[in-house]
Amino acid sequence: MSAIVTAHGSDGEAVQFSNASDGDDGDDVQITPTLTLRRPIYCMAPMVGQSDRPFRLLCRRHGTTLCYSEMLMADEFAASAAYRLEALGDRVRDHPLIVQFAANEPDAFARAAVAAHAMGASGCDLNIGCPQRRAREGFYGSWMQEDWDLCCAIIAAARAACPRGFAITAKLRVQYCERGTRPSTERTVEFARRLVAAGADLIALHARVRGSPELRRAGAADLTVVRALVDAGLGVPILSNGNVRSREDVALNLKATGADGVMVAEELLRDPSLFAPEKRSPPALIRDYLNLLQECESDVPREDGSVSGKDGAVTRATTEGVERYSVWWANIEVLRCHVKRMLERGGSSSKETLQRNTFRKAATLADVDRYLRARLRLPE
Ligand SMILES: Cc1cc2nc3c(=O)[nH]c(=O)nc-3n(C[C@H](O)[C@H](O)[C@H](O)COP(=O)(O)O)c2cc1C
Repeated sequence: MSAIVTAHGSDGEAVQFSNASDGDDGDDVQITPTLTLRRPIYCMAPMVGQSDRPFRLLCRRHGTTLCYSEMLMADEFAASAAYRLEALGDRVRDHPLIVQFAANEPDAFARAAVAAHAMGASGCDLNIGCPQRRAREGFYGSWMQEDWDLCCAIIAAARAACPRGFAITAKLRVQYCERGTRPSTERTVEFARRLVAAGADLIALHARVRGSPELRRAGAADLTVVRALVDAGLGVPILSNGNVRSREDVALNLKATGADGVMVAEELLRDPSLFAPEKRSPPALIRDYLNLLQECESDVPREDGSVSGKDGAVTRATTEGVERYSVWWANIEVLRCHVKRMLERGGSSSKETLQRNTFRKAATLADVDRYLRARLRLPE
């Protein structure tokens, strides 16, 4: 295997990344000229409020080979240094990372893509899958699928604005037929084909239709649509998203779809070691996560945007408390949510041991650590 290569030009030039295998077995997935990953790609899905950097690092440590950020607003990301700092810190430090944006305007997406590239991201993604009410009101996410020309113009604008090595990707759902009454494999393939023609380097398909803002992931995903997309031979990697509810499902999904990789959200929250050959217990994973939080403390950004050393971070931790930390790494709610989800595999009795209020009152990471150690018998 070749070593992982990451390079940051001081001028923000293209980050090169490869964890592909050496040799000529042809079993690598080339996303861009400088982004090649081993097949299959094991991908952490974008998750609002749950894609914090320590959690990404935890998943990467246990077999995940590609991560997405949570959905960020392209216009704000392009315009506001404070928003960028909150979202990604001073620069992207874990690779490869695709930064996902909500956008309904080509110029905003292109400017956000340029900014994400300058921060060291490997690519950026257009969210065409979010069904939430606020997405409907703002006309983005899955609601934008009503306007394929607009989606393609957004992709094309970013493609034109960024170097070839920076991936421009799209995450979409199964499309409806012309009359909007039933799912259509043909229209899904056609939409993806148009996005690729506009410049998309990778397509992730969440194999469900939009449904409603309330029923976002109801019912089984239809993996036959992913299969059809793969069989259409669009010339770009396809990620299959949906229906992974156990370790066994990962292989089953890849076998059924023939996709280049599998993207997982909920099951990875429950089991961040989902893609690793060896399963880790919830307490061991929680221990790892807390350690990673601690490590990430050393690069918590200061208010002025500079990155503090260890001492500065500790001061910030003790004076402001864990809940004041940016979502870039994790606040107390994010932390609670991760711990709860990881404990779902441990059965209800371990979940019940977490007392919401006591947990919330924890002011520092050390408090959280002490509390969880006592409650869950975490390894030292
Ligand atoms: C907590 C949570 C937050 C999510 N946030 C996003 C998001 O920011 N962007 C997005 O495209 N999808 C988002 N999703 C959807 C997932 O990326 C994924 O498409 C969906 O959950 C289906 O995958 P799964 O069956 O593996 O959970 C989110 C899902 C969850 C559970």
